Amino acid sequence: MDHSMKPAAALSAFSSRRWVLATSLCSLACLFLLSAGLLLLAAGYRPFLPHTAAPWDRLSRMRQQAAPSTARASHDAAVAPAPAPDAGSPGGLDLGQEDEEEDAGPPPAPAPAPAEEEGEGGGDGDCDVFDGTWVRDDAAWYPLYEAAECPFLSNQVACHRNGRPDSGYEQWRWRPRGCGGRTRLGGAEALELCRDKRLVFVGDSLNRNMWESLACILYAAVPDRSRKRIVDDAGSEYRIFRAMDYNCSVEFFWSPFLVKLETKINQTRALKLDQLPAMLQRTLGANILIFNTGHWWTHTGKLRAWDHLETHGKMVEMAGEEAFNRALRTWARWVDRNIDPSRTRVFFRSVSPEHKSVNWCYNQTSPISTGTVAPWFPKSLVTIVERNIKNMRTPVQYLNITHLSELRIDAHPSVYTITREGKPLSTEQRQQPLTYADCSHWCLPGLPDTWNMLLLDSLMRPPSNVHLLG
Ligand SMILES: *[C@@H]1O[C@H](CO)[C@@H](O)[C@H](O)[C@H]1NC(C)=O
Ligand SMILES: *[C@@H]1O[C@H](CO)[C@@H](O)[C@H](O)[C@H]1NC(C)=O
Ligand SMILES: *[C@@H]1O[C@H](CO)[C@@H](O)[C@H](O)[C@H]1NC(C)=O
Ligand SMILES: *[C@@H]1O[C@H](CO)[C@@H](O)[C@H](O)[C@H]1NC(C)=O
Repeated sequence: MDHSMKPAAALSAFSSRRWVLATSLCSLACLFLLSAGLLLLAAGYRPFLPHTAAPWDRLSRMRQQAAPSTARASHDAAVAPAPAPDAGSPGGLDLGQEDEEEDAGPPPAPAPAPAEEEGEGGGDGDCDVFDGTWVRDDAAWYPLYEAAECPFLSNQVACHRNGRPDSGYEQWRWRPRGCGGRTRLGGAEALELCRDKRLVFVGDSLNRNMWESLACILYAAVPDRSRKRIVDDAGSEYRIFRAMDYNCSVEFFWSPFLVKLETKINQTRALKLDQLPAMLQRTLGANILIFNTGHWWTHTGKLRAWDHLETHGKMVEMAGEEAFNRALRTWARWVDRNIDPSRTRVFFRSVSPEHKSVNWCYNQTSPISTGTVAPWFPKSLVTIVERNIKNMRTPVQYLNITHLSELRIDAHPSVYTITREGKPLSTEQRQQPLTYADCSHWCLPGLPDTWNMLLLDSLMRPPSNVHLLG
């Protein structure tokens, strides 16, 4: 096993912002949503307002090395937006069979990365793996696993199985501008990094997307698959993958707001901004914790998961942005009080962008390579996350995947997904992308594999100096 990769300094610099103001996005979204007849801004909900970002302190200099860019991408702007499926709804999962066939030959564990690009951006020193470009993976390093051989893939994101005809989206590789352009870990290295560790994802269906990806990467690399264990006890709310020979486990806890959502006896749903769900205690003792939240805070009208907000057991009125901030503070305080940084490394995965509105995912087959990316997401959410992490005592590593994912307009399930009832879309439904396309989640194999490789890449660096100091 080649573990020669040098530790490098961790999370680092930022470059220019490429965000379009949330206002213009909101008005576009509003126009559409109104025309779609949705109850937008119901119940006094205020959309997130644009915020000026608190300046982020530069921890290190970004390497300025220009990376060759690909000229393949094209994307149509100004396609009508789609009310994509509820990003967080626990989709139909039909996984977790205990006994798959064990006739699988040697796993396609890729050899250690060729050293061809080492040194490209300098070896050690500070570098930002989240800034870079997507390049065609000519070495056929990706995909890291075949969809057909992974028992953890939910139908929601198994695009190929759902009839997606193209597969180019599986074959892009993220090349950081600096850091030796290196993210080419393979499954074998991933498995080795997981040895004697418990990794726990907590968050919404986008973190489940990431869990599925990591489970597939590890599964494909396990030499003796008869020894693996799969437990899938509560459908989409709790998942666990274990590679017994490696004493490695990867779990997922569904908690889309991070704070507690409580359904009262009279069916009223209260989002308790100052309380966390009890299950969070079950994550204690993990070696690696990866949190996220985001999408569910933007749901309005009928899609909104709560009826009222609560603090100190009392109903409160609050703008969405303020509630989000309040919830993150509750989460941050819990981490600061309960996590021992010498035993547990904490990650927060940044907001996963959607491609709706001006940048619609339907019919897209290449990443965006030029021009401004208009994120569907309110930038204020991202800013609030970053500010809260910065104020924490516990070092939290920020998996800053928002921008690199924004470029991957081609990587969503689009119409190659399932309905809310769990059935593949019919031909007629596929012809109505406005209603049925999923531009929130990501196909697997696909983009979340890169998120995981960046997560594992961070694990190879010393955890020191990762705090986003203010
Ligand atoms: C995240 O990455 C983007 C793109 O490289 C960069 O513009 C932004 O400043 C980064 N954010 C932080 C907090 O590092
Ligand atoms: C297995 O991994 C756990 C962490 O998940 C660790 O505490 C334990 O010591 C490991 N067991 C062995 C036998 O190494
Ligand atoms: C439901 O019960 C809660 C207290 O448990 C109360 O505050 C709320 O007003 C009730 N809602 C309705 C619609 O009865
Ligand atoms: C998407 O592609 C299909 C097949 O090529 C085409 O019929 C359809 O018009 C395209 N839709 C949009 C919105 O571009």
